[in-house]
Amino acid sequence: MFSLGLGRKQAPLLGIDIGSTAVKVVELARVGSASAHTYQVASCALETLPPTAVVEKKIADIQAVGESIRQAVTRCGTKAKAAAVAVPGSATITKVIPLSAGMKDAEMEGLIQLDADQYIPYPLDEVNLDFTVLGPAVTQGEVDVLLVATRHEVVDNLLAALAIAGLEAEVVDAEPYALENAATLTMGALAEGQTIAIADIGAQATRIQVVRNGRGLFSREQGFAAAQLLEEIQRRYSLKADEARRCLEAGELPGDFVAEVARPFAEALTQQIGRALQYYYSATSSKPADQILLAGGGAVLPELEQMVSSRLGILAYVANPFAHMTLGPRVPGQLIQRHGPALALAVGLALRGFD
Ligand SMILES: Nc1ncnc2c1ncn2[C@@H]1O[C@H](COP(=O)(O)OP(=O)(O)OP(=O)(O)O)[C@@H](O)[C@H]1O
Ligand SMILES: [Mg+2]
Repeated sequence: MFSLGLGRKQAPLLGIDIGSTAVKVVELARVGSASAHTYQVASCALETLPPTAVVEKKIADIQAVGESIRQAVTRCGTKAKAAAVAVPGSATITKVIPLSAGMKDAEMEGLIQLDADQYIPYPLDEVNLDFTVLGPAVTQGEVDVLLVATRHEVVDNLLAALAIAGLEAEVVDAEPYALENAATLTMGALAEGQTIAIADIGAQATRIQVVRNGRGLFSREQGFAAAQLLEEIQRRYSLKADEARRCLEAGELPGDFVAEVARPFAEALTQQIGRALQYYYSATSSKPADQILLAGGGAVLPELEQMVSSRLGILAYVANPFAHMTLGPRVPGQLIQRHGPALALAVGLALRGFD
């Protein structure tokens, strides 16, 4: 059984998010006593990827991804060689099963392996399988166990890209769990007893999740994301792809951009987020989320925060995963300030070092 590292305990790790547009690296250090600690960002870098490197959330060019990881790691000045990476939610199959409480890990592993073909719709020799105990199940004397299966190919490509950069994967997580981790940290004590929705608005996909007391309740990925916004910018202002992106990120688009492009896009995105949440509420008879965190590069789209708040009736915030952290001497403050919401997943991965 290959470990996805869901229950690992060791520090420190480089959290490496291989997104469609960039490789993002975050390394954290825990400061203070065990009972009252905070985190310091020890190193951080973002390296843009060529457009052909990651296609439809899959690594298409291992060499290009590996080189970008190497450059990001060199730039951030870390000596760490162990990494935590994640496979997209769309590349994993998860299942929660009840097992009797009090079993040792090895016993549980044996039992799961024996029955795994009941839960996983792939031949077992084609997948990496991991599990973690979530907590007490509904039935007394049982615990809920989360099974996560990922096709070998997806994990192998990640490991090969890391190897090019001279790194080894200590943890292969699934994106939704890493993001939950980052969100729970960001909210701190405010998260207790709250149902938190998260929307990670990336370049190729928007992932919508719901978390309560650190436990994921819902996760869905959809294809409506910043790439559609960039296409509209290119079309309307006759710009090439790289110019469109540069102008968007630098806030250098014509005066009608907010009214003509950003606002309609924010409306459509809000609708997509609202629909996914509605589906979750009605499928599970749950009450609406108390708050919604906006993460990913698209989170800072003008007017999005206000629109999500007012249309969905949920308090929306742009996520700042570094809110309660100090910055180490090697870390460029500008990078954290400009790309904070897009670094949430890398922060969640780096946090795996302290599980
Ligand atoms: N101010 C902004 N408003 C809207 N979108 C923006 C803004 N700044 C950057 N973006 C977009 O955010 C995207 C990058 O976000 P992010 O880094 O979260 O994506 P990714 O992780 O590489 O992609 P994915 O998660 O889909 O694989 C780019 O497409 C970029 O154009
Ligand atoms: Mg992303």
